[in-house]
Amino acid sequence: MENKYPMNQRRLRANIHIRELASTVVLDHKKFIQPLFVNQNLTERKDVPGMGDIWSDTIISVKETIKSDMKNGVTKFLLFPVPKDKYDQDFNFDFAVKVVKEIKAEFNSNIWLACDLCLCSYTSHGHCGILSPDHSRLLNAPTVSLLSDYALKLARAGADCIAPSDMTDGRIKAIRQILDNYELDHVSIMSYSSKFSSQYYGPFRDACDSAPNSHGLKNRKTYQISPQNLNDALESSFRDAAEGADMLMVKPAALYNDIISAIKQNTNKPVAAYHVSGEYASIELMANAGLLDKEKAHIETWTSLVRSGADIVISYASRHAKEWISRIEM
Ligand code: PBG
Ligand code: ZN
Repeated sequence: MENKYPMNQRRLRANIHIRELASTVVLDHKKFIQPLFVNQNLTERKDVPGMGDIWSDTIISVKETIKSDMKNGVTKFLLFPVPKDKYDQDFNFDFAVKVVKEIKAEFNSNIWLACDLCLCSYTSHGHCGILSPDHSRLLNAPTVSLLSDYALKLARAGADCIAPSDMTDGRIKAIRQILDNYELDHVSIMSYSSKFSSQYYGPFRDACDSAPNSHGLKNRKTYQISPQNLNDALESSFRDAAEGADMLMVKPAALYNDIISAIKQNTNKPVAAYHVSGEYASIELMANAGLLDKEKAHIETWTSLVRSGADIVISYASRHAKEWISRIEM
């Protein structure tokens, strides 16, 4: 007799139990990192426009945020310090150092604290490093040397990990060297190794007061990677790994699943996917318009990142990961 049900795929979709058994992606909140904004200009915590329930903290309120996040199962954080003053030279990193010190004094090894390392919240022109006098170019060597000094200060303050997001060449090697020279060899480096020149950083730049506003260089295209260049993303990532990056990163995340897979398949370093502010805000906007369920949209997005090969997820909704993952079935 002829088989009436050839190639039946629906048996494996028939109920929640068999779907769980058959799934190839299992999300785990322990793989998530929560970003934190700490802004020296604030006297109380303040919402980030476009980002729903994401806010910037003061140096005081950030401790309350971390306490509450820990109750929700978050133990890994990525800190973005935003200083009050802007500089072209004689940079002062005291605020960032103070934030790291105070957080680590309170939470010690109960949390893992990575600190973003960049200059765009510091410079008067909003670029990620030092510009030439006519503002036509971002200068590599002086930027790397300043970033290395900054990394040393953050590591001495107690940061568990330094996360350079500036995109100059050779910074990973220089940072690794200075950390090792000062017996900070235990401090890890998570490189923003595939950071694309993207439209999706808008809400973040508002929060960190870091949009480029120079009369010379108008955008970050001469240092961030073109979305049209896969080779550059691969070369930059392997170069950073060779220079001593412990972890690699792809950013933005959900539009760059192909990059995540390609890097994952060609390295043994943990790969982090950073679902950035504009990606987060897109979900927020659609949810507010009644076009999708925000929680399920995040779960679906995170699933796609892990399915592509991400070992680590950096999401503004990490503080909900434990609860959402346990409650929501796909
Ligand atoms: C700064 C930095 C940016 C982000 C992380 N570090 C923005 C930029 O490069 O302009 C983006 C994060 C986000 O959008 O969530 N170098
Ligand atoms: Zn920057």
